[in-house]
Amino acid sequence: MTAIGTPLSPSATKVMLLGSGELGKEVLIALQRLGVETIAVDRYANAPGQQVAHHARTITMSDPAQLKALIEAEQPDIVVPEIEAIATPVLEALEAAGVVRVIPTARAARLTMDREGIRRLAAETLGLPTSPYEFCDSLAELRAAIDNGIGYPCIIKPVMSSSGMGQSKIDDPQDIQAAWDYAMTGGRVSHGRIIVEGFVDFDYEITLLTVRALGADGQVETHFCEPIGHAQVDGDYVESWQPHPMPASALQKSQEVARAVTDNLGGQGIFGVELFIKGDQVWFSEVSPRPHDTGMVTMITQWQNEFELHARAILGLPVSTALKSPGASAVIYGGVDANDVVFEGVSKALHIPQTELRLFGKPESFTKRRMGVALAYDHDLDVAREHAKAAAQCVKARVPK
Ligand SMILES: Nc1ncnc2c1ncn2[C@@H]1O[C@H](COP(=O)(O)OP(=O)(O)OP(=O)(O)O)[C@@H](O)[C@H]1O
Ligand SMILES: [Mg+2]
Repeated sequence: MTAIGTPLSPSATKVMLLGSGELGKEVLIALQRLGVETIAVDRYANAPGQQVAHHARTITMSDPAQLKALIEAEQPDIVVPEIEAIATPVLEALEAAGVVRVIPTARAARLTMDREGIRRLAAETLGLPTSPYEFCDSLAELRAAIDNGIGYPCIIKPVMSSSGMGQSKIDDPQDIQAAWDYAMTGGRVSHGRIIVEGFVDFDYEITLLTVRALGADGQVETHFCEPIGHAQVDGDYVESWQPHPMPASALQKSQEVARAVTDNLGGQGIFGVELFIKGDQVWFSEVSPRPHDTGMVTMITQWQNEFELHARAILGLPVSTALKSPGASAVIYGGVDANDVVFEGVSKALHIPQTELRLFGKPESFTKRRMGVALAYDHDLDVAREHAKAAAQCVKARVPK
């Protein structure tokens, strides 16, 4: 796409975001700045991205009939999936019919919507190193998989889940039943299939943001951001920083793995490639064909953050992944279960030097729901991490009086 029209006119360039949480909100803001007409879709009203888009639509995106009807009614030029739980066969059909462009491709959205598609592609088709794994449909199959090679410790995850939901690490046979039961309750769609993975005893894990964007000659080029380090608690990211220091050889291997996966998935846009590193060894874990939550740190570390990179790549515009400053992010959790919460401590947080905040504007807070993020930059990564964490701790949600 080379030309951009005028929003709210017949010439408009229309982009529909499927999923309008905190990551979608930032993509929408980046698109708005480029004069794109935006349609923010989510499963509930007043989702963060719906608050900054031209149009807000609320549907069940995993329902094929609802999704098809919405795309046909709105006629976007481009559809950008921002979550995994989408009726991807509808996207594949509309893409094949030439009705819409899907970012990066409808096939990538389908392959990454559950753990099986992407794991089999990476390990079996592309031959990339991953943890040992098996897919199981019953407790008996799970026991057999562990006994026949996966061993202990191992990690059990529903095939359709994210943010650590339904995921557990177990160390011996007596925990299998509880891990199975937890996986059955924690999946997005309870169709009872899980992956069991051997535990990788990595030194650290990174997100390698990888951008496929058009170069001056109109051909797709691959760009890598500096590696992002992160800390996970119960499968959910709590802190991230960039650049994560790592040896040149491990970084080169990481880029090779990321390139192999993203070349195969194709299209234009940003990908969050999750990798485990031990010394010089690199394991592929998973990939999101969209901005990554740990990449929120780029809102303070890069000249073009991951959302701007995605918007530019989608529109066929050039990108730069250059670092502006080392920095860090720390998640702000709700801490309370309540609607319409009020945030205290915002000023105190921002008095910490070189910090910024994002409050996502979610209408409902849960104790463990991500409601905002604190960002800090400093030439010293440790200082940036301390400041981001301190700023996040200042901000507390409370029930309105
Ligand atoms: N095989 C493994 N060996 C060691 N650690 C693992 C393994 N699989 C997952 N983990 C740990 O659990 C975290 C979450 O796992 P994974 O990314 O597969 O789940 P997720 O639910 O998709 O999480 P998210 O949505 O936050 O990316 C990883 O970032 C890593 O810290
Ligand atoms: Mg992950």
